[in-house]
Amino acid sequence: MRSHYCGEVNTAHIDQTVEFSGWVNRRRDHGGVIFIDLRDRSGLVQVVYDPDLPEVFATAEHVRNEFVVRVKGRVRARPEGTLNKELPTGEVEVLGQELEILNRAETPPFQLDDEDTSEELRLRYRYVDLRRPVMQERIVLRALVTRTLRRYLDDRGFLDIETPMLTKATPEGARDYLVPSRVHAGRFFALPQSPQLFKQLLMMSGMDRYYQIVRCFRDEDLRADRQPEFTQLDLEMSFMSEDEIMRLMEGMIRDLYDNALGVQLPDPFPRLSYAEAMQRFGTDRPDLRCPLELIDIADLMVDVEFKVFAGPAKDPKGRVVALRVPAGGELSRKDIDDYTKFVGIYGAKGLAYVKVNDVAQGRDGLQSPILKFLPDDAVSEILARTGAANGDLIFFGADKARVVNEAIGALREKLGRDLGLVEEGWQPLWVVDFPMFEWDEGEGRWQALHHPFTAPKAEHVDRLGSAPGDTLSRAYDMVINGTEVGGGSIRIHREEIQEQVFRLLGIEAQEAQEKFGFLLTALKYGCPPHGGLAFGLDRLVMLMSGAQSIRDVMAFPKTQSASCLLTQAPSEVTQGQLRELHLRVRLPQPGAVEGSGG
Ligand code: AMO
Ligand code: AMP
Repeated sequence: MRSHYCGEVNTAHIDQTVEFSGWVNRRRDHGGVIFIDLRDRSGLVQVVYDPDLPEVFATAEHVRNEFVVRVKGRVRARPEGTLNKELPTGEVEVLGQELEILNRAETPPFQLDDEDTSEELRLRYRYVDLRRPVMQERIVLRALVTRTLRRYLDDRGFLDIETPMLTKATPEGARDYLVPSRVHAGRFFALPQSPQLFKQLLMMSGMDRYYQIVRCFRDEDLRADRQPEFTQLDLEMSFMSEDEIMRLMEGMIRDLYDNALGVQLPDPFPRLSYAEAMQRFGTDRPDLRCPLELIDIADLMVDVEFKVFAGPAKDPKGRVVALRVPAGGELSRKDIDDYTKFVGIYGAKGLAYVKVNDVAQGRDGLQSPILKFLPDDAVSEILARTGAANGDLIFFGADKARVVNEAIGALREKLGRDLGLVEEGWQPLWVVDFPMFEWDEGEGRWQALHHPFTAPKAEHVDRLGSAPGDTLSRAYDMVINGTEVGGGSIRIHREEIQEQVFRLLGIEAQEAQEKFGFLLTALKYGCPPHGGLAFGLDRLVMLMSGAQSIRDVMAFPKTQSASCLLTQAPSEVTQGQLRELHLRVRLPQPGAVEGSGG
């Protein structure tokens, strides 16, 4: 039903007869002639109908926006003065000779070119939303991304292998989505949070190199870069060191950026230890495009009379930092109050500052409510360490290290954005040398920083018994522009170490058998050294497309409250279905907020 796509025609087609099928983007009546902007996946073309062909003209008078039509006509150059430079087809138009209405459309629920349409409306009528050129570009880019990744991996001997969706819980740290079994009363499948254990089993099966573009399910609090079901590019390799894996994987991302965006990423990617990332940026996924850094000053504050600083300076778990803001002297009282509120979200109790008017004048050149508490040598050392110049402002954070890192780390990125300090472009890096465990204050036990299958560094295996907190792992995360796009590790391939790690995490032998018995058994039958990682495909495409949310690069995403506005899922089911699944559900009483399982 077409000879060309709309976006393809240009001056080379002049005088040719062409045929298109698509949607009426806009119909304009110019007293005497009717213009139809016809749209398909490739773009727009202008079609003109004049009254010389009365029957066709009458049809043109009837079409409305979003009607689906078939058009036939002759390509001609646009008259002087009517060229449209914005449009790739803007030098030509089509003189319409036929017009067939294939389907009528009601007035769409929103104008396609209205930038302010609510996301709720867009999600409810997603098929209309997806017609918008910006959404089409994102979906096309996503397909290009998966195609490019697959080609890179296929060329390097990776096998695309599927793993089950109906399976057993895997511990990636979120709540599971459960599927009740009809056949086995009272039992449940869990949808996979990732294929972690299956891909390890595939290495034990001798598959050597595995990948899969695979859906993962996690019932967790949602954000702009988190969805309850999302897609990973999941990978696992045998007989490779972490260095070889990182080199191969950054090669893949370089190839991807080159092919999809024409962007050359650095070779190699810089690597930063977890400790250095936390120290300089307060986060393990730093945006290196932002030049601001946290500067430790606790050693200068141990004896000062300002308790707010002296307390954390003396506390082994405390941290005191300075953050120099170039030209920050221009921030108003209200700006500073707003930033103080902002860090409050992360638990900071205040946000001390010093304005640097004139460095040459020493403390007389500074302006700050806390200046009177600080001795001269501390003040001059702060200026020296931060490298502060006239017109700058220095912010301070003092608290438990966790609070300072979160609050001042977030402030750093916010200031970078607000003050336009973030450079354009791409800053990928690897974060390495993660601790194996972090202490969970609330639960009073160790938690795995990655997951329980991550191997400790060979030279740290002894510390598992003596100093778990000082054990570093063989994990690595890839970060691009402040987003964690992927992460993985070399795995434990020896049963006794796996058991030791389970014990450390408070997973007792019996529980380990119940949950991961199949893995522990498999480790007995010849397991190769192996490792891998998983990329968040949605996050990668979000970054590459410049979208603000992963919802904008998924054809049919869920809302922040984990529902689908298009299909109205999740929805109620019949009592009969529930009975078959051996479930009894007390339905919500009128006025109650939610039902509870029974
Ligand atoms: P991890 O849990 O770090 O590792 O997940 C890998 C990557 O998946 C992305 N991601 C998400 N994207 C969207 N919505 C979510 N809810 C979500 N959660 C995670 C992130 C993250 O870097 N099995 C391990 C990998 C391994 O060790 O090989 C795993 O799943 O970009
Ligand atoms: P206060 O003595 O509580 O009035 O605080 C004096 C200054 O120190 C104010 O500018 C506060 O915002 C700031 N301040 C208070 N607590 C902290 C903290 N934990 N870290 C950094 N600055 C703080």
